[in-house]
Amino acid sequence: MNRSSFVKKLLVFLGFSSSTNVLLSSCEKGETLLEVEEELSAEEKAYKELKENIGENGFFLDGKILNVDLTHKNYLKLQTTGEFINDSENYVLLLRKTEEDILALSNCCPHLGTSNRWSYSNGEFRCANHGNSYGTGIGFAANCSSNSTSGNLKQYKTEINQDILIVNFDT
Ligand code: FES
Repeated sequence: MNRSSFVKKLLVFLGFSSSTNVLLSSCEKGETLLEVEEELSAEEKAYKELKENIGENGFFLDGKILNVDLTHKNYLKLQTTGEFINDSENYVLLLRKTEEDILALSNCCPHLGTSNRWSYSNGEFRCANHGNSYGTGIGFAANCSSNSTSGNLKQYKTEINQDILIVNFDT
């Protein structure tokens, strides 16, 4: 039995999982270094990779998929129900609608396209440029800068993976 197999069996005996990876390597002085690395599931690996790709602004845009780190200081408001963030870098309003759900909506006003004058109350976003309000439901979505004065803002599909919000702009 080689040393790696022996150490692996020893770790199983001590209660580590049998899928634990054991890496043995020698350092300059001839001492043996032991690294124990738990095998991650595919989901855990994908999550870890996403976390590593999140940039200093708290998000990672991968094509049409936006990944937002909800623990990043830029997005902490989303931990409170009823709060929203106008993410102007990604042209999206992020709204913590309920404890379970975060909505992602276009931040382009359906009236004349203003994107930076939004407020939110009673389930609607109001654009202060001309005072029009738009819903956050599904159904009739008013397009960006289409001269619409009513309807819902365009909505994108979202999901939450642990502390990462995933927005699919292709929906
Ligand atoms: S541009 Fe938003 S209400 Fe007119």
